[in-house]
Amino acid sequence: MHEKWKVINDQHEELFYLLQHVVSISDRRRFFDKFVEHVQFEEQFMRDIGFPDYEVHTSRHHYIIERLKSICEDKHGNFDYIESWRYHHTQVTDTHILTWLEDSNIPDTSYKP
Ligand SMILES: [Fe+2]
Ligand SMILES: [Fe+2]
Repeated sequence: MHEKWKVINDQHEELFYLLQHVVSISDRRRFFDKFVEHVQFEEQFMRDIGFPDYEVHTSRHHYIIERLKSICEDKHGNFDYIESWRYHHTQVTDTHILTWLEDSNIPDTSYKP
């Protein structure tokens, strides 16, 4: 598997774990920060490989960041919507990046750090 895709996969797993354990305000902040960090990493990766659906994909990220921000700021904010979005986005939308990468035959060395 491509090296940076492994990082993205690990970040997805960490986000899933953190989301399952959101209790306090600081948990919310930590989840939000990790989410933004992940999205920035994934967007840089898409730029590095020249992913053609970059604009559409990032607009989905930016939409959910705004939703997540308002949920995190409300101490009674419900994360159910975020969980269903996270599941669909990582299982479907993000996998389009990997499928495109594998079909495009870009050598792994061209986007290693
Ligand atoms: Fe992702
Ligand atoms: Fe994504």
